[in-house]
Amino acid sequence: MTQREPNRRETLLGLAAVGATACLPGAATADIDSLKARAERKGLLFGCAVTSRELRSEPALREAVLRDCNALVATNEMKWGVIEPARGRRVYAGADWLVDFATEHRLTMRGHTAVWHQNPPLWVPNALREPGGRALLEEHVRAVVGRYRGRIAQWDVVNEAIFHKDRQPGALRNSPFLQAFGEGYIADAFRVAREADPTAKLYYNDFAFESSEVSHEERRRDVLPLLESLRRQNLVDGIGLQAHLQVGDPFDPRRYRRFLSDLADIGLDIMLTEFDVADRRLEADTAARDRKVADYARAYLDVALDESAVKGLLTWGLSDRNTWLNADQWRRKDGVPARPLPYDDAMDRKPLWHAIAGSLDAAPVRKA
Ligand code: G3I
Repeated sequence: MTQREPNRRETLLGLAAVGATACLPGAATADIDSLKARAERKGLLFGCAVTSRELRSEPALREAVLRDCNALVATNEMKWGVIEPARGRRVYAGADWLVDFATEHRLTMRGHTAVWHQNPPLWVPNALREPGGRALLEEHVRAVVGRYRGRIAQWDVVNEAIFHKDRQPGALRNSPFLQAFGEGYIADAFRVAREADPTAKLYYNDFAFESSEVSHEERRRDVLPLLESLRRQNLVDGIGLQAHLQVGDPFDPRRYRRFLSDLADIGLDIMLTEFDVADRRLEADTAARDRKVADYARAYLDVALDESAVKGLLTWGLSDRNTWLNADQWRRKDGVPARPLPYDDAMDRKPLWHAIAGSLDAAPVRKA
């Protein structure tokens, strides 16, 4: 049986016993061994994806977020489908709540995502093809990025736009945006975002770059020309590597490290934006599964965080209770709930939390 981690109260009691709380400035934010403290010692961001509902309804999650995170990203509430479900009536309640929360607690906020093929409202694909359709896309980007001007530090302006299996020029995905406007829609979206908030760092965000299997190798190759072109036009500042890992996928540290260097050479910041570790191929036994997830994560993170252009790590959720990997289409075949995140569903730290902590500790210090 693995030893249970001390909970927050026990940790504080332990610190109090040695007089350590005297130097702690604020209650929920002060743990010296938190992921936040470890990240900050290296000049890194650490954070997670959240929804306003989770933060409002789960006090233990809220406490863990404030203890471990100096950054947040919106899981869903800044997506077009949530902001403008009916044409012309924008609903910002959830997004506003998150930005206010981040501002109040001095967390770096990441906007996710202005342009994504998977989440436009139902009315959008037809509307894009109407005369003036392009203005709709640009108006959406202008509205959502402009609303939080100066308050959202990083934006995933365009998400998941390459997909070579669609056999389009530039290996672009055959999305409703590509169909309606051709490949120029990506640069245009960045241009509008830049105007809407010149202070925000603008990112291109995408998945499936990590493994050494052929399709990931092809995607690493395909994304570089797009980024080089956007960079030459000073439209993009960084790339978000989603890093949805899966234990069992082959990982070649040397090749991945070289990919990160290639991105840095273009002059890009790199964020690991949606980190989690799928355990779909592992046995049901919890302790064995957690160990293997942690080991796989550590091997990846040690390589990724070695590149100083990598500015931070965001996990896609903080606790297993909030993972997308338990949704119907992704769940394990045996029905056992997935455990891809640093906290379990009782908000106890898992071996993955310690793997992340170890990789943060091993990372080189970033120069300011
Ligand atoms: O809120 C409604 C709820 O009212 C309704 O009862 C329920 C019924 O299905 O749906 C709820 O909305 C769902 C929402 O998650 C909140 O749970 C949506 O149907 C569902 O599509 C949505 O899934 C999100 C998905 O993106 C699509 O937007 C996941 O939470 C989110 O984790 C996932 O995140 C993506 C990133 O944005 C991009 N990269 C991949 C990543 C994982 O798929």
